[in-house]
Amino acid sequence: MSEFKRLEEKLSNIVKSSGYDADVCLCVSNRPDLGEYQINEAMKFAKEYHKNPNEIAKDIVSYIEKDDSFCNVNIAGAGFINISLSDKFLINFVNLLKDDIENNIDKKEKKKIVIDYGGANVAKALHVGHLRSANIGEALNRLAKLVGHDTISDVHFGDSGLQAGIVVMEMENMFPDLECFKKDYDGKDFLLPITKEDLKKIYPNGSNKTKENEELLEKAREITYQIQKGHIGYSKLWDKITELSIKDIKETYERINANFDLWEGERDSFQYIPELLDYLEKKKLLYVSEGAKVMDVKEDADEKEMPPIILEKSNGAYLYATTDLATIYSRIKRFNPDEIWYTTDLRQELHFDQVFRAAKKSGIAKNVNLGFFGFGTMNGNDGKPFKTRNGGLMTLEELIDLIKDECYKRINDNIVEEKDKDKVSEQIAIAALKYADLLPYRETDYIFDLSKFVDLDGKTGPYLLYSTIRIKSLLNKAKEENIEYKKFTKINSKTEKDVILNLLNMPSVINRAYESKSLNEIAEYIYKLTSSYNKFYAENKILKEEDEELKESWLLLSQVVYNTNMLLLDLMGIKCPEKM
Ligand code: ARG
Repeated sequence: MSEFKRLEEKLSNIVKSSGYDADVCLCVSNRPDLGEYQINEAMKFAKEYHKNPNEIAKDIVSYIEKDDSFCNVNIAGAGFINISLSDKFLINFVNLLKDDIENNIDKKEKKKIVIDYGGANVAKALHVGHLRSANIGEALNRLAKLVGHDTISDVHFGDSGLQAGIVVMEMENMFPDLECFKKDYDGKDFLLPITKEDLKKIYPNGSNKTKENEELLEKAREITYQIQKGHIGYSKLWDKITELSIKDIKETYERINANFDLWEGERDSFQYIPELLDYLEKKKLLYVSEGAKVMDVKEDADEKEMPPIILEKSNGAYLYATTDLATIYSRIKRFNPDEIWYTTDLRQELHFDQVFRAAKKSGIAKNVNLGFFGFGTMNGNDGKPFKTRNGGLMTLEELIDLIKDECYKRINDNIVEEKDKDKVSEQIAIAALKYADLLPYRETDYIFDLSKFVDLDGKTGPYLLYSTIRIKSLLNKAKEENIEYKKFTKINSKTEKDVILNLLNMPSVINRAYESKSLNEIAEYIYKLTSSYNKFYAENKILKEEDEELKESWLLLSQVVYNTNMLLLDLMGIKCPEKM
């Protein structure tokens, strides 16, 4: 349990022993001149106990004052209790943290959660939406683990949509003699005549053609359908293209530190579709509308439009909703999870609403919580989704490289050796991008602003890396000078106290981030903690301090802040270089 929670429990007990029965919340004060925290419950008790809130506050305060964890307990206004924490308490707290920060995090009751994020599409370039899904999903995955859950992360590739037909059609156009296109093809393996670089051009070329030519579009649809139904040549070719594409996609995910337990895709759900449709049929949930098999998901209370979910088109083809419902079916059958979470662009909200309703209504996901945690878009200066200079959609690779070039230019040649510059600028760029992406509330759109993202002095990834590395180098110097720091014994100034109070508040920030499924408060928090530490760092010459006890305390506090920063950077999927 966190020390903060322990404090709240202790206060609740104190309040109970003073005669009022309720749990109290310790709120960070908005009047720090009066106290560090506030307890507002006296107002609530006033109604319940028909007593003047000020009298109640006085009763409670007389008990709180007896406990040496607290100091400067006073009453403001009608009955707000201001409270500060004693040095004794804070000193003990830092000593507890030095051994294990994770102990200071409130664990939840353990659940098994499947988390679906990433969602790259095979044979198509990743774009900013995929970046957001990977960043947010990966951070939520790490957050869920941190608070004690078991998770299974699944990239859920898009591999059964129209791009399959388009790419296979284009391949046939380019390589008509390829074995898989022969009439008597028997499924034998063959060599794919293209590289991953070639593949990058095939989908855009084919896609342009289908936009200009209705007949080709129809053909691509037909091939997509044939692949779904297991056409031997087309399926084999698409399998091989998928394999090539996934290798490439994995490299991009590695660049942005997204790790998946499962590298499955829409097609992996195909084996469950007949069983699923059969089940829905038996429950009399499916009906035919204009030749398609559909299911109603409208509810009486609906105020918004809620179209039926289409599970099979009139030609027998399956759709996005079919594979998503079948994937839920398979995940529950295989893993028996308590929850399944999804992180995609908010524009897919209706789709997931329909799919979740179908899963609930049919009883497939009776005891499973299905959560959709959508996100807003990254926009350009014009307020529209971010584009390249010539107006095209920017690929994720292009976006990372754009930031990386900027970071490369800013590297200090005196600090980073030539041979390490590429790697370091990559790490800084990823930190810049990820931090900027996690900083706004998940659902809020934000503006891509390169110079703001990479600014060493702003609320940015590079600022956090720079500051964290600086603490590490301070600790390394102490080590070189054989200075041991085992005990925190002294709080010397208000600045240090601020750092410690920030540390104390971390578990509540983690709790709130978990509740909202958004990293924004954590991103704000690490900036606040780091800034408070940097103020302390600027005010003191730590290694030159003559009071040995103070020096030891300062180093220990530095160590704790370093550990906390590393934990939170890792939570956000950000790696810290050795130097920058
Ligand atoms: N491939 C989809 C896209 O690019 C995202 C997949 C999200 N996950 C899911 N289970 N539908 O938009």
